[in-house]
Amino acid sequence: MSVKDNQHDWKFSELCGEYRRHNGFNAIDYQTYNVKRGLRNPDGTGVMAGLTNICNVHGFMIADGERVPDTGKLTYRGIDVNDIINACIEENRFGFEETAWLLLFGSLPTGSQLERFKETLGGLRELPDNFLEDMIMKSPSKDIMNKMGRSVLAMYSFDDNPDDTSLENIMRQSIKLIACLPTIMTYAYQVKRRAFDKESMFFHPIDLSMSTAESILRALRPDTKFTESEARLLDLCMILHAEHGGGNNSTFSTRVLSSSGTDTYAAISAAIGSLKGPRHGGANLRVRSMMTALKENVSDWTNEEEIYSYLASLVRKEKGDGSGLIYGFGHAIYTLSDPRAVILKRTAEKLAAEKDMLKEFELYKTVEKLTPDVLANVKKSSKVICANVDFYSGFVYDMLGIPSDLFTPLFAVSRIAGWCAHRIEEATYGGRIIRPAYRSMVSRKQYIPIAERNFEKE
Ligand code: COA
Repeated sequence: MSVKDNQHDWKFSELCGEYRRHNGFNAIDYQTYNVKRGLRNPDGTGVMAGLTNICNVHGFMIADGERVPDTGKLTYRGIDVNDIINACIEENRFGFEETAWLLLFGSLPTGSQLERFKETLGGLRELPDNFLEDMIMKSPSKDIMNKMGRSVLAMYSFDDNPDDTSLENIMRQSIKLIACLPTIMTYAYQVKRRAFDKESMFFHPIDLSMSTAESILRALRPDTKFTESEARLLDLCMILHAEHGGGNNSTFSTRVLSSSGTDTYAAISAAIGSLKGPRHGGANLRVRSMMTALKENVSDWTNEEEIYSYLASLVRKEKGDGSGLIYGFGHAIYTLSDPRAVILKRTAEKLAAEKDMLKEFELYKTVEKLTPDVLANVKKSSKVICANVDFYSGFVYDMLGIPSDLFTPLFAVSRIAGWCAHRIEEATYGGRIIRPAYRSMVSRKQYIPIAERNFEKE
């Protein structure tokens, strides 16, 4: 790879060599200086960085100072996420809006509060005048997360009071962003289709009375049609992705930015950028590519030995994207199970039966069964590892006919509820800029006049 201008032809491999010559650390450096790499304690638990009233992620217990694996549990404001989902299924209603209220305000809404909140969100779904033309249609992006981040940042210019960090103002901005991020996502996707996939784009009028899940499906379907059960399923996925504590990378990014006193748009666009990463929300897209490659490379989907050996080749970095990761597995907190993956797996099985995709579902199950052994044997890791939220979510979205371009963006339009709740908590109760330390490893050097530099010979 190289870049050329009128005078230079830089080969990036040479520049990388230059970088490596003057830089570098190794694992011993980290140990010597007791660096909490990844903000982790030696046993893998996260360094305690704050207190929160919003969510609890439980995946292990501590006994005699040791981590003891446990069944995963996720509670929003003290309420088990399973209970929220079961209530929505039993009462046959959408739950994402109720979840967003719970996360933002701290307790469940009354019936009338919920109705008013849903109407408010509906009324705020539209983007400012000319935003679609000026901010989304111009300079389209192949990547919807990139476009969403840019668009959220651009919303600053359409806000009459963008920098006010009072609780009232952040709440106003948060509700607007929760309402309109799905609109940004679906518009950005339509523009991407037109610009890069050479397909038609369409912008249906928004039905302000619809739930978030319904309005997303309506915007994605050429004829605006979808079934009630499809919308309920998407809603379920959104509830499960809405929040996950203060330490996950994107929420922590929100808290870091918020602690500096910056504006809501800057904090939320940073969170979107973080979520895009393949070790975080972007893993759902990587699971899709990994499973597609696995299906192509494994001749018999019921042959566990063949599947095992393919998974082992991923970990040995011989196949896949070279990261050595089996995407959709592992978690900083969960050990025996990720409750979100458990619910999504159940959902995927039901849907697979309806869509005649049980063979594919069985393949997912086999990968789930074999992966812990593969990691234990190939990596010699003793860490108890389970499927995480991203393993089955893409499969569910696939069966709902949702394009893979939107797998991670759908995570973002759900998680924005949690991000906003944490921004509000940080701005209201944090009170100190988040500022860890980096130890400098550089020894003192003299400045050398340019005529005397001859580093090539060093
Ligand atoms: N595949 C292969 N190796 C994995 C792995 C996976 N899914 N998950 C963890 N590991 C490896 C790590 O790379 C690390 O190896 P190293 O010591 O050689 O660097 C070791 O196991 C211990 O890692 P651990 O401390 O458990 O992971 P973490 O807490 O630092 O990271 C994740 C957690 C989620 C980032 C990690 O499990 C991962 O990258 N998973 C795949 C991506 C994914 O699904 N992300 C979605 C998260 S919801």
